[in-house]
Amino acid sequence: MSRIFVTRPIPAIGIGILRAKGYEVVINEKAENRGATKEELLEGVKSADAVLSILTDKIDGDVMDAGAPTLKVIANYAVGFDNIDLAAAKKRSIMVTNTPGVLTNTVAEHTFALMLAIAHRISEADHFVRAGRYKAWGPNLLLGTDMSGKTLGIVGLGRIGSRVALHAVKGFEMKVLYNDPKPNTEFEKEFGAQFVEKLDDMLPHCDFVSIHVPLLDSTHHLINESRLRIMKKSAYLINTSRGPIIDEKALAKALREKIIRGAAIDVFEFEPDIVPELKDLENIIITPHIASATEETRNKMASMAAENIIEALEGRTPPNLVE
Ligand code: GLV
Ligand code: GLV
Repeated sequence: MSRIFVTRPIPAIGIGILRAKGYEVVINEKAENRGATKEELLEGVKSADAVLSILTDKIDGDVMDAGAPTLKVIANYAVGFDNIDLAAAKKRSIMVTNTPGVLTNTVAEHTFALMLAIAHRISEADHFVRAGRYKAWGPNLLLGTDMSGKTLGIVGLGRIGSRVALHAVKGFEMKVLYNDPKPNTEFEKEFGAQFVEKLDDMLPHCDFVSIHVPLLDSTHHLINESRLRIMKKSAYLINTSRGPIIDEKALAKALREKIIRGAAIDVFEFEPDIVPELKDLENIIITPHIASATEETRNKMASMAAENIIEALEGRTPPNLVE
């Protein structure tokens, strides 16, 4: 009987799909409210045929070796897979899968929730009211920024970046610029979007910048102090991709010194820790890596990860094979 190690409790639908196959499913229940420890990963993976991992599990060569010789597939419960050492998996002929597509719309919606919230100062306003500071309607009270007609710069035109562009253009009549390794003429036609080959040439023109690239060596600190400095003083930065893409200390400085107007982030450089200065600033909104966290999407991710495992263990190519 195949044995599946699930590093943290996930929505029941995924577990049900695996159990219906007759697999032995071992769930690391201890990690319900925290990430799995390295020890738990090393122990849990022993004699497992598959691991269902989450994005905070560092799945490196050690973990893979602990699963040898049975381990055949690592199914990540995420679209991103920077937590898995792909080269190590390849060397050991272990398959790696992810959950693309099903979370695209949810992450794009969260991106817009953040963009709207920072531009209209929703979080600040909520705190203001709760603190009993609302004494009278005021012409100058908590003035924000319109999004309609403004320019949105999309960094990384994958599925999520494209979906963000759809909301921006169709919903908010924004102008879209995008920076990506390659232009996409169909996308340009559909959304009237404009390709900018160099990020440094795009940033100075954007009222909003939203990041949708994966975390790679080449995207680490893609947004650094010098790039923050070339953005408009009135610009907002949104990040729903991966934390280390922004130099968080530089961001804190830029927000404090009003080098940009605001930021809204769902991911942090040293997750779950956050650079302390950020917490004291009013011009940032912070959510705890929940951009894909809707019931519908988390259920779909759980089903997809389970299906990837089944395909791999039954000797077929999983639909979402990344390596
Ligand atoms: C979430 O961050 C994901 O990669 O799915
Ligand atoms: C992945 O990064 C996506 O855009 O879905």
